[in-house]
Amino acid sequence: MVAGRKRKEKKKEEMKLFIDTANLQEIEEASKWPFVSGVTTNPSLIAKEGLTQKEVIERIAQMIDGPISAEVTEETAEGMLAQAHELYQIKPENIVIKLPMTIEGLKACKKLYEANIPTNVTLCFSPAQALLAMESHATYISPFLGRLDDNGWNGITLLEDIVDIKRNFGYESKIIAASVRSVDHVQQAAIAGVDVATIPYKVLAKLIEHPLTAAGLETFRKDAAKTASLKK
Ligand code: G3P
Repeated sequence: MVAGRKRKEKKKEEMKLFIDTANLQEIEEASKWPFVSGVTTNPSLIAKEGLTQKEVIERIAQMIDGPISAEVTEETAEGMLAQAHELYQIKPENIVIKLPMTIEGLKACKKLYEANIPTNVTLCFSPAQALLAMESHATYISPFLGRLDDNGWNGITLLEDIVDIKRNFGYESKIIAASVRSVDHVQQAAIAGVDVATIPYKVLAKLIEHPLTAAGLETFRKDAAKTASLKK
């Protein structure tokens, strides 16, 4: 442990890693990796794929047996709820309804909680917003690290604050580190104690890499070849 770092109380559940993409090739590949257990999408990611949201979510649901966040785009709670029920029907065991951080979004959040449909409140940029989503019984809350860092705030500080609020009061909402840009974001999010990090494919693929692992492996292979040549 780093000197001076406070040890936090042990959590009941393990951290999960999701892939943050709507690209079907990326999801198919990542679905074979033993450390990827869910998918998050948003309208911008879906727009890159040239398919409707329904088509994309249906295809993802065939590949991943874990939480799949699908975002609503209506402005009123009533509109969001109608969209949410349609999306949820695609695969009720796995679909999580992604809702915006607005009063209408939080009204829809509470209604979906009462209907036992999981939610992910997205576009969270402050501890106050996270508190409101926790009080509205969000299943997941997505603070956006990268977009905060890009604009001169500190995404990891926000995560730490939200983790503290959750622990202070025992809220059940799971915190998803979103808008992840780097391996270090994932490491810092894990140290902060988030429940999930949702990670773009390129960053997920980099998590395994370390130059000393590559160098060590090469040495071990060369030395193994020397031993193999001794065999009679
Ligand atoms: O899915 C939400 C979030 O992860 C978006 O990330 O890179 O567009 O800021 P980004």
